Amino acid sequence: MSVTRSVIVGSGSYLPKKIVTNEDLAKFVDTSDEWIRQRTGIEQRHFAAEGEFTSELGYKAALEAIKSAGIDAQEIDLIICGTATPDNTFPATSVAIQNMLGIHHGAAFDLQAVCSGFVFALSTADMYLRCGKAKTALVIGAETFSRILDFEDRTTCVLFGDGAGAVVLRAEEGTGEVSDRGILTSHLRSDGRHKEKLYVDGGPSTTQTTGHLRMEGKEVFKHAVGMITDVIIDAFNETGLDANDLDWFVPHQANKRIIDASAKKLNIAPEKVVTTVNLHGNTSAASIPLALDTAVKDGRIKKGDLVLFEAMGGGFTWGSILLRW
Ligand code: UT7
Repeated sequence: MSVTRSVIVGSGSYLPKKIVTNEDLAKFVDTSDEWIRQRTGIEQRHFAAEGEFTSELGYKAALEAIKSAGIDAQEIDLIICGTATPDNTFPATSVAIQNMLGIHHGAAFDLQAVCSGFVFALSTADMYLRCGKAKTALVIGAETFSRILDFEDRTTCVLFGDGAGAVVLRAEEGTGEVSDRGILTSHLRSDGRHKEKLYVDGGPSTTQTTGHLRMEGKEVFKHAVGMITDVIIDAFNETGLDANDLDWFVPHQANKRIIDASAKKLNIAPEKVVTTVNLHGNTSAASIPLALDTAVKDGRIKKGDLVLFEAMGGGFTWGSILLRW
């Protein structure tokens, strides 16, 4: 049976030039390199320069993804940007990126699912492609979380960073078998009962300010592994595949302890796990495409490999995507 599959044909990423190490933070926050490394695995993060916006980070990642896909930007007829730190309340950051790319056709919109933003955006683009509503999608995760951090709050400000990653997704014909290239299945979830555990204490409708990130870290940690593994088990059940079939696990990069515990619970071998949280901290919607692009560029992820994404974040929102590269 012939089916449409959404195949990732190119990836790219961008990290702002300014690197902030744990030691740099310890100069003005009551923390230490040892505490941050032990509790999170983070060694450094990147912060956008003054005047460098989420759209610019996303644009630079998009340019790389388009180049690696070997397509003309004008072929793109759908752009979805996962972000919780848009340039402005409106218009959408994706529309700014669309304009920077010189594209003036098709649709561009932002998707807000915080750290799950890339998984939600990729799954949404997959639906458009499979329904025949678009042929070539650009999916971006781009964030400037440094702009919403409270540097007086050591429990949150050491965890996050800025960055962007992007992929080009193209509709191709498949056989409907799990040997097809492309997205095989995606599973998205949300549950607003956990709203107060990870949120921003401001917004246009509530305070008319941007606000700062607030998190009950322990509570988030407590739920993370269970939620992540649930949606991955859903992906395995639906496809009949399992951890042994996987070539690469590319999880949301929030905390190395969460990544390791999830992989262990799912019996995913440590050498199959792509971890970059040490290099850029939690970049929210940008973290999966940043990790993905690293493993594509260094040659780990190859055509035909079975790759699993998972993310969990504010809301709570969480989700998984299983695909063949
Ligand atoms: O993308 C999804 C979003 N977020 C996450 O996935 C994060 C989930 N949560 C976590 O990663 C962890 O809960 C944290 C890394 C945030 C915290 O680790 P923890 O092991 O849960 O530490 P804790 O909150 O229980 O704090 C332990 C101690 C406390 O001191 P006392 O009360 O034991 O004296 C904190 O005050 O560490 C203290 N502490 C710090 N010390 C040095 C908290 N933050 C810091 C800090 N530096 N930056």
